[in-house]
Amino acid sequence: MANYFNICLCRPTLNQCLIFGSVLFFLTIVLKYNLDFNLSYSNQNCALWSEYCRNLYYQDLKLLASGTKNCSKIISGDLDEVKKTQIDNLIVTNRRVLATDKDYLELTKDCTNFKKLKKYVTFSLSDKERNYPIAYSMVIHENIEMFERLLRSIYMPQNVYCIHVDMKSSETFFEAVKAISSCLPNVFVASKRELVVYASWSRVQADLNCMEDLLKSSVAWKYVINTCGTDFPLKTNAEIVKALKLLNGKNNMESERPPSYKKRRWEYEFTIVDSIVKQTKIKKKPPPINIPIFSGNAYVVLTRDFVQSLFKNSIAKNFLEWANDTFSPDEYIWATLHRLPEMPGSVPSHIKYDKSDLNALARLVKWVGLGGDMEQGAPYPACSGKYRRQVCVYGTGDLHWLAQQHHFFANKFDPRVDDHAIQCLEEYLRHKMFYGNIV
Ligand SMILES: *[C@@H]1O[C@H](CO)[C@@H](O)[C@H](O)[C@H]1NC(C)=O
Ligand SMILES: *[C@@H]1O[C@H](CO)[C@@H](O)[C@H](O)[C@H]1NC(C)=O
Repeated sequence: MANYFNICLCRPTLNQCLIFGSVLFFLTIVLKYNLDFNLSYSNQNCALWSEYCRNLYYQDLKLLASGTKNCSKIISGDLDEVKKTQIDNLIVTNRRVLATDKDYLELTKDCTNFKKLKKYVTFSLSDKERNYPIAYSMVIHENIEMFERLLRSIYMPQNVYCIHVDMKSSETFFEAVKAISSCLPNVFVASKRELVVYASWSRVQADLNCMEDLLKSSVAWKYVINTCGTDFPLKTNAEIVKALKLLNGKNNMESERPPSYKKRRWEYEFTIVDSIVKQTKIKKKPPPINIPIFSGNAYVVLTRDFVQSLFKNSIAKNFLEWANDTFSPDEYIWATLHRLPEMPGSVPSHIKYDKSDLNALARLVKWVGLGGDMEQGAPYPACSGKYRRQVCVYGTGDLHWLAQQHHFFANKFDPRVDDHAIQCLEEYLRHKMFYGNIV
């Protein structure tokens, strides 16, 4: 072997050989310098398919969970490791103080430093992702740290993010959100703000405000995904892009025949009394559509054409207007419009197209009544965190199950209930972003 190289490279004179060697050395230095330069100062996509380059990026951008917990063990279902974090959560003095609005106002004074410190990924990870931008409509009202961690976990420079901040949020919260978005060119706050009253039309209006703004953005996004402040992703941007392409122009969401107890929600007019939605005795006219009402939830995956139709198609507009004095319209308007033949990306109203939340992609939720022993027929294990408003706020013990599901996002997470769970997801997603399947 040594001989072969000698013959190949060094049959010329020793001098030529030395020159060749020096040139090679010089080129290596230049290449290495360029890579490092790219890493720290520019958004250029370094050759991510090269192992060397990917490792460099990951060293710079990994999000490691704090303390001694081993997140790989937690996610692969190691109960002892889960127990350690649960015990830690019981010790009040161990509670981390969450970052405040003021902290973010301070941090974002220097945007470059903010993005570096918080490890934002400011370059696209592949051409396929770069060429497939996604829009996000994020409706939030409190907990700036949770919002910022959610934003960071879904942030990609080719995407576009509209943030709707509730009118009842504090002024400093709104200022902090504005400060964060001013550091990221493709993140903006909604041009119109609503005072969101639980179960009222205002929740839908907040998303509509963002969707209208997103349509005006110069980003040629293909799908919009909406989130609230307690969501966290289970999938990387690359995985979401891959799944959206497979949808082949269809929307995706929960959409089923409604249980009979929900029907009063749109059969009667509702009105807001002291910030609470109350039923009146006035019966509503039937909805101005030729299909029945379908039941779903507020979190959906919609094509750009569908969103455009919300503002253009008279059937959609009339239906939305008709729905504006009903109870929790967010939980049925998307599910119903998705079954209307006139709407782009819709599917037929036939029962064969019904889809439950567990079969849809948008959102994974554990409801209090359904969590239990799967061997006894429960659809999922009980909540390992805490139930709030009948919905599980996930703990580390839920991560093993969550990581095996197909959903883009899960709800709810709260660092005040289990910060370890969020930290482990952050670590897991960042690793998957660099070492999972790159599309
Ligand atoms: C976590 O546990 C895995 C084995 O499950 C091990 O391979 C890995 O090195 C551990 N990581 C740390 C940081 O200790
Ligand atoms: C609902 O639509 C009606 C008719 O256009 C309008 O007068 C009313 O202001 C709307 N209500 C809300 C809450 O948007």
